Amino acid sequence: MSDYIAITGGHDVTEDIHVSGSKNAGLALMAATLLASGTSTIQGIPPISDVNNMGRILQCLGADVSCVDDVLEINMTNAKQHSIPDELVSSLRASILVLGPLVARFGYAKLCLPGGCAISSRPVEKHLRGIKKLGATVNIINGSIEALASRLLGATVNMETPSVTGTMNVMMAACLVHGVTRIHNAVREPEVVDLANFLISMGADISGIGTDCLIIVGRGGLSSPSQYKVMEDRIEAGTFLILGAICGNPLTIHRCNVEYQTILVKKLRSVGAVVDVVGNSVTVHKAEKPCSVDIQTGPYPAFPTDLQPQFTVLLSLDHGKSRVVETIFESRFGHCPGLQAMNAKIQINPGQVAVISGVRKLSAALIAGSDLRATASLVLAAIAAHGTSVVGGMKYINRGYFDLEKKWEQIGVAVRRLPDEQSHISSKYD
Ligand code: EPZ
Repeated sequence: MSDYIAITGGHDVTEDIHVSGSKNAGLALMAATLLASGTSTIQGIPPISDVNNMGRILQCLGADVSCVDDVLEINMTNAKQHSIPDELVSSLRASILVLGPLVARFGYAKLCLPGGCAISSRPVEKHLRGIKKLGATVNIINGSIEALASRLLGATVNMETPSVTGTMNVMMAACLVHGVTRIHNAVREPEVVDLANFLISMGADISGIGTDCLIIVGRGGLSSPSQYKVMEDRIEAGTFLILGAICGNPLTIHRCNVEYQTILVKKLRSVGAVVDVVGNSVTVHKAEKPCSVDIQTGPYPAFPTDLQPQFTVLLSLDHGKSRVVETIFESRFGHCPGLQAMNAKIQINPGQVAVISGVRKLSAALIAGSDLRATASLVLAAIAAHGTSVVGGMKYINRGYFDLEKKWEQIGVAVRRLPDEQSHISSKYD
């Protein structure tokens, strides 16, 4: 299937969108099933390519993984430490999440360094330091992480600066060790809360959930949960909330837990969008009189870095002069060259600061995303732009968003996947 789609934009979007299950929470829950023998049943994890690859990783480790409708069944009865092909581990960032469970359950883990979007160097030293604190010996030899542990014990782990998967890894390992583990400077992301709740359903003893200090009382073993339903994808929900502010007339997003969207809803209202919340459904009307607003990304509950590229598109349209400060990743403005090709006026300053002067309209172009959220932002821009754009990078979209083309069609977007023969189109921004 080609990596390019054609989108004819410049029209408002309306109707309803139903958000799928969370990619980042779902991947963590899948890794957590390694912590216990038996079968875990998880509902709502979207069949996106990152999830498929995580399933293949678990199968390499002896798991039986099956999916019927939207229920994932993972049987860990025959799980054991085993080598995992580098091409699988390096295909996604979340593969690092098998490290903690493998070391805690089997006393040994070996895997190459993980992959992930090219938005920073994506280091893992916080993960390794946390596992070492619990008593493991961890080395990186020829690009592979090798961890060994005869006996892990509860400890105090200070993450120092926030790390989502780093917090997840240490929390999972701590559930199996004997003794009390305190994780200081833990992140408070809802996906970490969802993982903690899943671990509790497996018999874990975790307190401080949702705070920056997690306390895990490990008793050496867990049981597989009967069944669990993953939270909805708050980044997909946020992406559609932003689309509603760009051209919603109106757009309603269902399965959107607005508790996770506090800062985004505040910023959308600041730029003039009308946001109405009824339970888990949020209706967004585009701004009649758009205003400027500044955003700065940070760990939850600050503005999410995974919605920064999408919000940058909104600010590129008629919103006066705004500033976007990216504090989480050192190279997360990869979407800007494509937006500039569409007539956006964006100046990138040192220190990860983008100054945006809104323009009346964006124009269609041939563009390509460099990572998951950058590509999602270019799609939003193509939906807003007048004319037909060709957007490359669907391989990234397929990693992180489920059934997106169908969802766009549902809300009136004219989208067409280009046939392979046309996918030779080289984007100006590859
Ligand atoms: C998770 O990545 C998410 N991915 C990312 O979502 C998200 O952007 C990020 O958290 C921040 O919210 C998954 O959950 C699979 P971090 P993660 O560790 O855990 C530095 C998406 O689009 N750091 O919180 O890898 C790191 O370089 C993806 O869905 C270290 O220095 O992010 C970054 O600057 C993109 N050493 C900062 O910390 C470490 O050992 C935050 O990274 C780990 C991280």
